[in-house]
Amino acid sequence: MLCKLIGIPLQSGASQLGCEMGPSALRIAGLRQALTDLGHQVSDCGNLAISEQRRRDHPNEKIHDLAEIVAWTEVIAEAAYRESCDAMPIFLGGDHALSAGSVSGMARRAAEKGRPFFVLWLDAHTDFHTLETTNSGNLHGVPVAYFTGQPGFEPYFPKLERKVDAANVCMIGIRSVDTAERRAIQQTDVLVHDMRAIDENGVAALLREFLKRVAGANGMLHVSLDVDFLDPAIGPAVGTTVPGGATFREAHLLMEMLYDSQLVTSLDLVELNPFLDERGRTATMLVDLTASLMGRKVLDRPTRRY
Ligand code: ARG
Ligand code: MN
Ligand code: MN
Ligand code: MN
Repeated sequence: MLCKLIGIPLQSGASQLGCEMGPSALRIAGLRQALTDLGHQVSDCGNLAISEQRRRDHPNEKIHDLAEIVAWTEVIAEAAYRESCDAMPIFLGGDHALSAGSVSGMARRAAEKGRPFFVLWLDAHTDFHTLETTNSGNLHGVPVAYFTGQPGFEPYFPKLERKVDAANVCMIGIRSVDTAERRAIQQTDVLVHDMRAIDENGVAALLREFLKRVAGANGMLHVSLDVDFLDPAIGPAVGTTVPGGATFREAHLLMEMLYDSQLVTSLDLVELNPFLDERGRTATMLVDLTASLMGRKVLDRPTRRY
């Protein structure tokens, strides 16, 4: 597989500074080597950058850095579309606002290939605020509402060439939802698996069912991995930690199942804030999870399953 690493030093969607250093930390933690060790070809496209920003004022005065995020969204969507022509893009964030661009660009690619498009959202949060409802004003809280075509993003954000069908979005790990997001997401067909669903069923059953649907539709699958999906004990380097997250073993199991499915066509690694890390262990964790998603196994021969 040819993987393209796309660095996105975007941090203005979050309230705490530091995600800008995410792409560097992932590179330093050895992402490229981990992938080449698995036999993949890797091309590092370097970091994206934005140039001009057109001024945008939204009536919701809480929103900050709207013009900058919009500029990033355009640049990222274009890069996602371009680099996915012949490769699997891996978006190195950067805060979660980047998914407004990565997902919309990949949705455009899927439409061009005539294939249905699915998103697996691994996160403590639904990130389903609209520009009207966000009360933190942090735009990393809005990307899912944007790419599923909820109202109020136009004329501020780029017009979507293809919306993502809400029914094709599956969330796992959810445990922090604001009132307005809860109200809005409940009116859609987004499949939300909260931590209780994990506790009662196990992550494997939840993911297996979703992958069956993706495979049955011959879909393309984008995986968006927010560091705060993980329990803070194994992923401390994030500004929005929420207790009670996925364990090391749950997270690796999901990645291994994703590899076995051979359905993943793009990946976001987001919200890593190296300024909050402990001797790089969260960055290393993300590299190890990515390696599992790309085929790293304990043994080269299949393990016997009982
Ligand atoms: N719902 C909260 C907000 O809108 C938290 C969002 C956290 N998002 C994230 N990508 N970490 O501010
Ligand atoms: Mn998120
Ligand atoms: Mn989150
Ligand atoms: Mn909020």
